[in-house]
Amino acid sequence: MDNVLNCSGHDLKIPNIVDSEGVYLFDENGKQYMDLESGVWCTALGHKNSRINKVINSQIKSIMHAGFCYSSEILDEAAKAILSITDLPGGKCVFLCSGSEAIEILRQISRHVMGRTRTLVLHDAYLGSYSAVINRNEDWHIFDWRKCETCPKQNECDPGCDKLQSIPGDITEFLLEPGSASGFVRFPPRAMIRNMVDIVRNNNGKVIANEVTTGTGRTGKWFGYQHYDMEPDMISIGKGIGNGYPVSVAVLSSALVKELEEKPFKYSQSHQNDPLGAAVVREVIQVIDDDNLVSEAEKKGKYFLSQLNRLVDNKIVLGVRGKGLMFAVDLVNEQLGDEVFDELIEQGFIVCNRGSLFRIDPPLTISDEEFGKFIDAFCAILASKKNFLS
Ligand SMILES: Cc1ncc(COP(=O)(O)O)c(C=O)c1O
Repeated sequence: MDNVLNCSGHDLKIPNIVDSEGVYLFDENGKQYMDLESGVWCTALGHKNSRINKVINSQIKSIMHAGFCYSSEILDEAAKAILSITDLPGGKCVFLCSGSEAIEILRQISRHVMGRTRTLVLHDAYLGSYSAVINRNEDWHIFDWRKCETCPKQNECDPGCDKLQSIPGDITEFLLEPGSASGFVRFPPRAMIRNMVDIVRNNNGKVIANEVTTGTGRTGKWFGYQHYDMEPDMISIGKGIGNGYPVSVAVLSSALVKELEEKPFKYSQSHQNDPLGAAVVREVIQVIDDDNLVSEAEKKGKYFLSQLNRLVDNKIVLGVRGKGLMFAVDLVNEQLGDEVFDELIEQGFIVCNRGSLFRIDPPLTISDEEFGKFIDAFCAILASKKNFLS
């Protein structure tokens, strides 16, 4: 890897993966690794999924990429499939390549129709890698909801509370991540979100649901916002919708589409509305539907969470949480986190490690038996660390 710059901020752990299948990756020595991070939450249907690969093979035989003025029916078919699962009839979709791009275009659209620029966002939301979302200095209202998480009145959530009242009246859009992946797998309270949406909408602002990690069935519903009492005006979808192929979707409600008819908007990017990405999106939705993977994610999620709960000892494992197949495990400190992470890799298990926090996002297709193997290995490693603190 002498000529490849790794600037992801993560150390390279397995330098040469030569094959994959379902939940497994294989290195050049034939060692297998169970991928419980689903390739940074992308391979929702598992690696080398035969139906997705078949669609890719068949689509490249006709048309992979065309250009702005040349389209293909597959795009409309994929858009219809997306609109049916997002409950936004009459809406429209733009197909792009990454979650960051889907968020970028939607922010540009809302700024364009609203003629104003301030974005409301939860403090722990990760929205992408563009500087426009990393540098949240100007034109942002960052809503720190840490106290709301433990607020005794969480279920009622008083709209007159100082925190909610501090939201400015000129919000262009509320960019909601309905279950923060990078923010340690926390799910904001329903009543708080309802109030935030009302405040923004009462001032004519828009709501964008960022479903890059919480979409595509991950949380036991098609989309994370469906756990909340609200409907977004726009939705960004990425990662799992391509099962590893780089495609994302920016979805607009029919009302917004009408606004754009009156105020035309331009955004051109070479890989906008590519037929190959659209074919993948349509098939990912079809596979999830055919195999009931959304309800399976809910059912398996409850079972797996109960298995993960076995690890909690209030000493080295402080807690676990999750929704659907999106889990977090809190270890007592970063040093233990790093040690356990390395041992898991050594034993052939990949999780996402951020200091003392482990995130576990297996493919929706994982079996109880496969997850059971991971739990057994995780338990054994943690048991060997029982005296870590003494
Ligand atoms: C919540 C969330 N939104 C957006 C993104 C950006 O997606 P991408 O990396 O595909 O640009 C990420 C990436 O991890 C994410 O976790």
